[in-house]
This record gives sequence, C-alpha cells and structure tokens, in this order.
Amino acid sequence: MNNSVPTPTKADRFSFGLWTVGWPARDPFGDATRPPLDAVEAVHRLAELGAYGITFHDDDLVPFGSTEQAREERIARFRKALDETGLVVPMATTNLFNHPVFKDGAFTANDRDVRRYALRKVMRNLDLAAELGARTYVFWGGREGSESDAAKDVRAALDRYREAIDTLAQYVVDRGYQLRFALEPKPNEPRGDILLPTIGHALAFISTLQHADMVGLNPEVGHEQMAGLNFVHGIAQALWHGKLFHIDLNGQRSIKYDQDLVFGHGDLLNAFFLVDLLEFGGPGGAAAYDGPRHFDYKPLRTEDITGVWASAAANMSTYLLLKERAAKFRADPEVQEALQASKVGELSVPTLSDGESYAELLADRSAFEEFDADAAGERGYGFVRLNQLAVEHLLGAR
Ligand code: GCO
Ligand code: MN
Ligand code: MN
Repeated sequence: MNNSVPTPTKADRFSFGLWTVGWPARDPFGDATRPPLDAVEAVHRLAELGAYGITFHDDDLVPFGSTEQAREERIARFRKALDETGLVVPMATTNLFNHPVFKDGAFTANDRDVRRYALRKVMRNLDLAAELGARTYVFWGGREGSESDAAKDVRAALDRYREAIDTLAQYVVDRGYQLRFALEPKPNEPRGDILLPTIGHALAFISTLQHADMVGLNPEVGHEQMAGLNFVHGIAQALWHGKLFHIDLNGQRSIKYDQDLVFGHGDLLNAFFLVDLLEFGGPGGAAAYDGPRHFDYKPLRTEDITGVWASAAANMSTYLLLKERAAKFRADPEVQEALQASKVGELSVPTLSDGESYAELLADRSAFEEFDADAAGERGYGFVRLNQLAVEHLLGAR
C-alpha cells in the first residue's frame, strides 16, 4: 500500500456487516459470482485489515431453519474467532426480509401470525446479541411497507410497528440487556415503498414510543441519497436530537435503487463533509459521534475474493483520508478566515440577546426601522470560496 494511505487500527472503530464482505453477489439478473464466505474467515480477515468490529443478522451467522445443535456449533465457532482476534460485536440485527414468510413485511404484515413470529425471531436474536456484548440492535424494515396503496392500512401498520418496538424494548429492559435500538430508514427496496422512509419520518415515529429514550437511528448514506436528500443535513439533525446511535457508511450515485458502493465512491464531497461533521463537528471541534464507523456496502459483483478484501480496506482508508483532509481543512488559517467572513460561527449566537423578549425586540429600532435590508441583501457571503477551499483540501492541493 502507498505510504500516504493511512492504515486503520482498532482505535478507529471500523466495523463491517457479515453480509457485506460475505455477499456472494447474487442480484435480480444473475447468479452468485463468489462462493459463500465462512464467518470465521471474515472475522480473521477483517481483524487483519484493522477493523475492530463485526455485525450480523441472525441468519448470516446461523442459516434460517438450522437445528438447535447446528446453531450452537455455529455460534461457538464464531465466538472462538472473536476471542482469537479480539474483534467485537458492537451491533446485531434480524433478517426480517429474506424468507418468503416476510413478503408482506414482518412487524407490519397483514397476517397477525407472521407478526407474532417476527417478534419471536427478534427476541431470540436479542438474547444472542446481548450474550455477545452488542450495544446496539438495528431494525431495518426492508419489507415493512407495500407496493400497492390498496394493500396496506398505513396508520394501522404504524400502530403495529410501534407495538413491536415497544414490546421488544420492554423485553430488553426486563432482561436487563445493555442494548439500545437503532431504526434504519430507507425509502424503497427496490419496488416497495418502505415505512419510515427517511431520517425525519423515523425521528417523528420515535417520539411516539414508550421507551423513546432507548431508540435512535442507524442512518445509511445511500438510503437518504436514494431519496435525493443531503445525508450531512440528516446526520446533523439526528445528532441534534441526540439520536445518532449508529451509522451505515457506503456510497450512492443519485436517486435510484440502493447501490451500496464503497464509502466515498458516490458523492465524495458529501462524504468529506460527513466525516468532518462526525470527527470535528462538535462544540470546540470535538468529535460529534463516538459510535462505530460501520460499513454497509456490497463489494462489486465483478470482484473475486481478493477484490472483496481490497474493497473492505478501501472503505476504511477512504474514511481515514477524508478525516486527515478534514483536519487540515479545519486547521487552515485561510479556512478559518473564510469561515469568519462567511459568518458561519455567528449562527451560534442566539437571535435574541440574553433575557431579551419580543417586546424588547419590538422596541429595538435598529432591528427594523433603521435596519438597511437593501445593504444586507447586497453583501455576499463568500460561500463559494469556502466550498472551493474544501474542494482544494479534498483534492490534496493544500
Ligand atoms: C439494505 C440495508 C441493510 C441493513 C441491514 C441491517 O439496504 O439492505 O442497508 O443492509 O443495514 O439489514 O439492518
Ligand atoms: Mn442499504
Ligand atoms: Mn444499512
């Protein structure tokens, strides 16, 4: 590897889904192009590459329908690999989308028996997640939604969704598990419209939950971009609500089906500002997010296993390169001067003075009667210069 490309270490807190590097690249138009990847092999290779964590759906680790004995064996092998490598399991989740039983959804299936089965499937994996030390449990409702507006009573579906999350949260509380829930929004998959399609929808839903304090978000880069939204804005709002519990990093090019590209291989400038926000966006330039940097991507279908590991490494080195460049951007005196000229910091000053009421604002002639709106309207903000400074840092020109 080139010397100027940083090498990840466990301190960077990079994690990967077992289903990412393990994706055999079967798609709607073609067969798998790679053989199945053993979970034990994935643990060892990811540890060698510098990741600190691995995550899984119940069915990634133990194939659907396995016997109890086969399940125990799989889990034991996985645990051994974790012990050997020091890799941790920061997050786990449930596959509530693959089996035909979930073709009309899981928590929001019209069929009540399917909903009850889904709850049991989650509870079983919550036990395992807690046993393996996971701190976050993700809910991605890939099949919650519909392809026909005639087929789904959306308000009833939201009632059932809430009932499911409330029930499962109560289960976690009663068992004393150290788990928080993270809902993962996505607009469509790829035909059906999914419930809780964006960060905003999910935040509003969370505010209605019984255990709202233990439920946050796991936003994914590509999912917001599939909806044409600015991921950095979404993450900033999630942080603002104290709800960024976990994050799925990957790449997406514009509004279309979910591409799951390597992080940075989509909208690179937005990725730069995302890393800048996560790493340096807090008050006083402190990290705004301290959870796992989790990659949820799919190695291109064209790649063999060597390409799979190269793509895993690419996610991490891209993140670290962006972090290096964001640090330089923040430290550059010219950037600091440009930020000041653009009044970026002034936005943190409250609009009303300390203790000032609207009556005092009404009495302040300088705020209105004497305010020169035309002059203020004429002044440029210099945002293009600021953006170009970011681009120049990103391209390594500074
Ligand atoms: C997707 C989703 C999933 C979830 C995963 C964890 O678009 O397929 O991003 O990969 O992240 O199911 O809940
Ligand atoms: Mn995705
Ligand atoms: Mn995801």
